[in-house]
Amino acid sequence: MRSKKFDKDEVLSSLDKALGGVLTDWFKDEGFNAKPNQTLKVPARGRVKAKWILLVGVGSKSSDVEATRMVAHQAAKASSRQKSAALVLPDVSPATVRAATEALEQGAYRYKQYKTGTRRPKGGLSRAALLVSDAKDKGLRKAIKDGMAVAESVNLARDLVNGPPNDMNPLTLADISKEEAEKLGLKVTIWNKKQIEKAGMNLFLAVNAGSAIEPRFIHIAYTPEKAQQKVCFVGKGLTFDAGGLCLKPPKSMIDMKCDMAGGAATLGLVLAAARLQLPVEVHAIIGSTENMTGAAAYRPGDVFTSLNGKTVEIINTDAEGRLVLADCLAWAVENVKADYLVTHATLTGACMVALGAHRAGLYTDDDDFAQGYSTAAEIADEKFWRMPLDTDLRKTLDSFVADVKHTGSSYGGSITAALFLKEFVGNSNWLHLDIAGPAFNDSPHGRAPKGGTGFGVATAVRFLEYLALDTVGDEDGGDAAAAEA
Ligand code: BES
Ligand code: MN
Ligand code: ZN
Repeated sequence: MRSKKFDKDEVLSSLDKALGGVLTDWFKDEGFNAKPNQTLKVPARGRVKAKWILLVGVGSKSSDVEATRMVAHQAAKASSRQKSAALVLPDVSPATVRAATEALEQGAYRYKQYKTGTRRPKGGLSRAALLVSDAKDKGLRKAIKDGMAVAESVNLARDLVNGPPNDMNPLTLADISKEEAEKLGLKVTIWNKKQIEKAGMNLFLAVNAGSAIEPRFIHIAYTPEKAQQKVCFVGKGLTFDAGGLCLKPPKSMIDMKCDMAGGAATLGLVLAAARLQLPVEVHAIIGSTENMTGAAAYRPGDVFTSLNGKTVEIINTDAEGRLVLADCLAWAVENVKADYLVTHATLTGACMVALGAHRAGLYTDDDDFAQGYSTAAEIADEKFWRMPLDTDLRKTLDSFVADVKHTGSSYGGSITAALFLKEFVGNSNWLHLDIAGPAFNDSPHGRAPKGGTGFGVATAVRFLEYLALDTVGDEDGGDAAAAEA
């Protein structure tokens, strides 16, 4: 493939010629007019090297990167029964190669751990080749390596979210976190219930009280030598949220294994930062427990003293995530002292009411932070929307008996949840992501699969890369290569 301008018409007409001039006819028959993500799979019948050729519409408005992503994603989907697939990339650049690698690897994701016998999907894409013109180009090789690292981390987060809650509990989540982080040489600290008690995380412990399984506080640190900035991520790791005594109705409970998606994303992103060797210090903190209804369960009306000393009156035991996060945030503020503090949490159904099921709420008082994170999200192809931290709603959290109640009025539920968290971040430069919607899909949406999506990992990585630019400058270079993904 040439690295000069790729002429789509020229390529299409030479393909048409090779296939014996049938394409235009088939386009008509199949109603293929190259709309975004429209596909047409044609058998090559020995006329070209490949067995099947997949044509993917990209529309007329999409950028090279968007178009590449669509092609790579559709290629992965269409090749799910094939062992190998080759993706011919026109107009290669580090950006398109990175996008193709991520989309291909994430597109090939399938969760099959618990399927047996004939129910277990066979095969699956084991080799995908990106065909580009210069395999030795350093920039392109790095783009592939980085894309693989991101995709691997996204797919791990998906696996963790999809894991059934009888197996994926705070103990196993901690074990997997430790194993994955130590593979990359990261420092891991895991606290059991006793250690969490000793630290004084009474809100976290209150949520755990109704569960037969111990909680875990997980802290992973990636500390590269050349780092000049420090970012701390805190993730909600509720491996199951039954709602506690304020029990959820069955329909709302069914997917509540997804309530550790913020924690899964937090683990995924620190692993990705290490794999990419980003020159930024990254801390990942996950507060993990179940929210159950055992005899010792916490009750509405209870009052607990949080790690930062504030007393909290419990209103609805189903608003548990903010309690776990409050103690973890207070700990991070005291002990990590990061330049940037970011929370990922499947925090409120209200956020889905506000923004739909595929967009996360983004909260921060810092305009530059919001701008930086939003730009990262755009590059990562994930959807966020900035939400207001309206201070006038803060009074709905005033308590008659304690310093603060943990839920406010039902209007603006995602905002009041964020305002509650804000009580625990001190003067930190803090940004909160309510990912209740996009973390988990009822059915595939866009490039995200059914079930766990790994939402948040890709954007966090792009944000860290953006911070790294300040440190070392852009290392991307060159624009052509052949290599394998
Ligand atoms: N984990 C839920 C939020 C959620 C809902 C996540 C749907 C994913 C999909 C959270 O703990 C919760 O139950 N929030 C309550 C808060 C309320 C009791 C103030 C909610 O959203 O109803
Ligand atoms: Mn809940
Ligand atoms: Zn929850």
